[in-house]
Amino acid sequence: MSLKSQNPTKTTSWEKLKNHFNEIKDHKILDFFNENKLRSEELSIRWNDFYVDYSKNRINKKTIKLFSELLDEIDLKDSISKYFSGELINKTENRAVLHTALRSKVNIDIKDNGVDIHKKIKDVNNKIKEFSNSIISGSKKGYTDKSFTDIVNIGIGGSDLGPSMVVDSLKFYKNHLNTHFVSNVDGDHVNEVLKTLNPETTLFVIVSKTFTTQETLSNANTIRSWFLEKGAENKDITKHFIAVSTNIEKVSSFGIDKNNIFPMWNWVGGRFSLWSAVGISISLSVGFDNFNKLLNGASEMDVHFKDTKFEENIPVILACLGVWYNNFFKCESESVIAYSQYLNQFATYLQQASMESNGKSIDRDGNEIDYSTGQIVWGEPGTNSQHAFFQLIHQGTKLIPTDFIGFAKSLHGNIDHQNKLISNFIAQTEALMKGKSLSELESSEKASFTAPFKVFKGNKPTNTILINKLTPESLGKLIALYEHKIFVQGVIWNIFSYDQFGVELGKKLANTILEEIENNLTNNHDNSTNNLMKHYKSLN
Ligand code: F6P
Repeated sequence: MSLKSQNPTKTTSWEKLKNHFNEIKDHKILDFFNENKLRSEELSIRWNDFYVDYSKNRINKKTIKLFSELLDEIDLKDSISKYFSGELINKTENRAVLHTALRSKVNIDIKDNGVDIHKKIKDVNNKIKEFSNSIISGSKKGYTDKSFTDIVNIGIGGSDLGPSMVVDSLKFYKNHLNTHFVSNVDGDHVNEVLKTLNPETTLFVIVSKTFTTQETLSNANTIRSWFLEKGAENKDITKHFIAVSTNIEKVSSFGIDKNNIFPMWNWVGGRFSLWSAVGISISLSVGFDNFNKLLNGASEMDVHFKDTKFEENIPVILACLGVWYNNFFKCESESVIAYSQYLNQFATYLQQASMESNGKSIDRDGNEIDYSTGQIVWGEPGTNSQHAFFQLIHQGTKLIPTDFIGFAKSLHGNIDHQNKLISNFIAQTEALMKGKSLSELESSEKASFTAPFKVFKGNKPTNTILINKLTPESLGKLIALYEHKIFVQGVIWNIFSYDQFGVELGKKLANTILEEIENNLTNNHDNSTNNLMKHYKSLN
C-alpha cells in the first residue's frame, strides 16, 4: 500500500494555520520571549546528547499545536508506519524505502525475493567488516605484495556525497588510509586525483547503484586504463577494484571478480544509501566499528522519530518549521550552518537528500501542485560563512531561516578556539533574532548619514542544534534527523519523495549532443544550442 493522498492546503488545519499566520506573522520573536519567560524551555527538546532549541522562531505554542493537528489530519502516523514497515511508498518506482532497515537493531520481518532482508543486510555487513579489516590491517595486499595506502571511491550523487561527507566529517577518527573521491565527469577531477597515487598501493571502489551512470563508468574506465598503463596486468584488477551495485551483471562485465562485488538493493535510494555497502569507504577510512557506531546512532534517531509524539519529535518539529516558512512566510530557501569545519560537506550532502527528494510539482494523484514544495538548502561552515554571506541573512531583503549545528566539546581539545567558536555560534542566533534598532545606535551614530545602514531589523528565525560531541554515533543521529525531516515534508506536501525523474531529461540530451559532437552534427537543435556546439567544435 502506498501513502494516502491529501492536498494539505485543503485541510481544516491548514485553514487554521493560515488564520494563525495572519495573527502572528508580524510578531517579534523577542516579544514572544518577553511574554513568556519559559519559552526556551517550552520550545526546545533535549534528547540523548542533542539539545534542539527552536524557540528563536516566529511561532508560539499554538503554531506547534496546529501543525500537530495537520499531521493528524493527513495521518502522518500511518505514513511513518508504512515507511518503516517496507510498504511500497516509492510508488512511482514501485519500491519500498528501507534505508532505516540497514541500521535497525530489531529484526524486521520483511522479505526480498523470499529472503529475510535482515539476513541480507547482516551478510553484507559481515562482508564489509571482513574486507575493511583485511585492508586496514594490511593482510590483503596489492599486486606487488604491498599493503594498501589509498582508497579511491568512484561514484556520483548518492554514491559519492554521503560517503564523502561522512569520511570528511569523521576525519578525526580516521586510520592511516587516505581516502579520495572521484565523481565529476570533468577529466580534471580524476586526473588530479591520479597524480597523487601509486597503483601498487591503491584500492578502487566503484560505487553505482545502477552501474550505468556516465560519470562513474567514464571515471572507472579511465582509472582502469591508467592502472594498466602504469604496469599492472589484467589479472591484477581483481586485487585493486571492487564494486558496490545492484547490477551484478554489468559489474562482472567490467571485469570485477564476483567476490569483490558488494550488493545493494532497490529498496535503498541512492541518496539514502551511505548506510549500505555504498558506505564501504567510510568503513575503510574509520574502521568497521566506527561505521557500525554511525549506524547505531542513526538507528537511535529512527526509534526517536517513530515512537515520540509529534510535539517532542525533533525531525517532525524541524519539518513543520520548514513548511511554516516555505508555505506561509513564502521563504525561498533555508540555510544550514554547521559550526564545525569537519562538517564542511554537510550542506552539499543535504542538497541532494532534500532537493532531489522534494523538488517535485506533481501530487500523489498525478495532479499539478499549486502550492510551494521543496526547499532550497544551502550553507557553509561557521564561522567562515559569517565573513561571506551572513550580511545578506542579517540585512538583506529575504527571510532565510537558518539551522545552526554545533558541538559542545571539541575534538582537538583547544578550549580557547572552542570558546570562540561557540560564542560565535550562539551570538549569531541572538543577533539574528534581536537585530539593532535606530535607538540602540551610539548617540554619535544616530544623527549621522550612516545610521540607517547600521540598523538590523532582526526577527530572523533560527534553530539551534547543540550536540555534545562529534562522534560517529552523533553524526549518524544528525543525518537520520534530516532524512526524517525530508520524509515528513514529503508527506505534508503530498508528493513522492523517493523518485528522481527530474534528472533524466538532461542526461538523455547530453547523450544526444555527445553523439552529435563526435559526428560533427551541429544543426539539429535550436539556434542557441547549435551555435554553442559549433563554437565548441571550432575550438577543439
Ligand atoms: O542522477 C541522479 C542519480 O540517479 C542519483 O539519484 C544517484 O544518487 C546518482 O544518480 C548516482 O546513481 P548510481 O549510483 O546509479 O550511479
